[in-house]
Amino acid sequence: MKKITKAVFPVAGLGSRFLPATKASPKEMMPVVDKPLIQYAVEEAVAAGITDMVFITGRNKRAIEDHFDKAYELEAELAASNKDKLLCLVQDIIPKHINCIYIRQSEPLGLGHAVLCARPVIDNEPFAVILADDLIDGQVSVIKQMTDVFQQHQCSILGVQNVPRDQTRQYGIVNSVPLADDLEQVNAIVEKPKPEDAPSTLAVVGRYILTPRIFHHLEKVRAGAGGEIQLTDGIAALMKEEKMLAYRFKGTRYDCGAKLGYLKAMVALGLKHPEVRDEFAAYLNSLGKAESKQ
Ligand code: UTP
Repeated sequence: MKKITKAVFPVAGLGSRFLPATKASPKEMMPVVDKPLIQYAVEEAVAAGITDMVFITGRNKRAIEDHFDKAYELEAELAASNKDKLLCLVQDIIPKHINCIYIRQSEPLGLGHAVLCARPVIDNEPFAVILADDLIDGQVSVIKQMTDVFQQHQCSILGVQNVPRDQTRQYGIVNSVPLADDLEQVNAIVEKPKPEDAPSTLAVVGRYILTPRIFHHLEKVRAGAGGEIQLTDGIAALMKEEKMLAYRFKGTRYDCGAKLGYLKAMVALGLKHPEVRDEFAAYLNSLGKAESKQ
């Protein structure tokens, strides 16, 4: 029985939909309330018992390494001014037993290429892939839900959710047969189909468990849509020789790679944040009332 101990975080993309914010700093460091997107993603992996975090980074991504590293000066200053609570907050960003490994993707050649860059570290084990810009707020960490499914089925698993048919163009869409309430057996995957060509409305969002055989296929994938090496193409080849499942996760997903999704995440998580939720809710209420008077 294999266990998932490694997660890959592809963070080398350009984040062009968020320019100019992403000109000099990574999209994955954008905060939702007070935590950067990448920290939510890493916490999700830690909650699943994953111990090795593999970041695929690129130019302008140094802030991610600094975020998970010790900050001597800041810690000394917080200690000197007796700001113990803040000191703990900074020191507890990542538990001590977690290893952070950084691999540089020299050019953003696509998500499939980014995952392939992790091969020397992953070697011959199944692993998780987490896209930090898909922030998923679940009672149970979504990658934990998926590693639990993996324990039972020992095969690749795609995190999926239903999307409105007019949005299929933004996703990889699966063709599948139901196995259980939240589980499907996948027979095909199509990258960004037109609504009329989509085999279903079940979209793959940024959570995957993959077997190491994916690397063999990614090596052979040629650049497709937009000149990028697509992870979807590797997955399509993998499912021809291995069982692949789609899992409908429990949780609310926010597409923080796009402005509207990011704003929604900020409102939803702001309304849950113990420090600001009451005042923030009152503020939003007052906006609603002001609008209905107009
Ligand atoms: P996106 O499709 O969101 O691309 O990538 P992007 O470059 O981050 O953003 P836009 O579209 O220009 O606004 C999905 C995920 O794959 C990573 C990104 O960092 C993001 O987490 N990625 C993408 C890489 O690591 N390398 C790549 O070559 C491409």
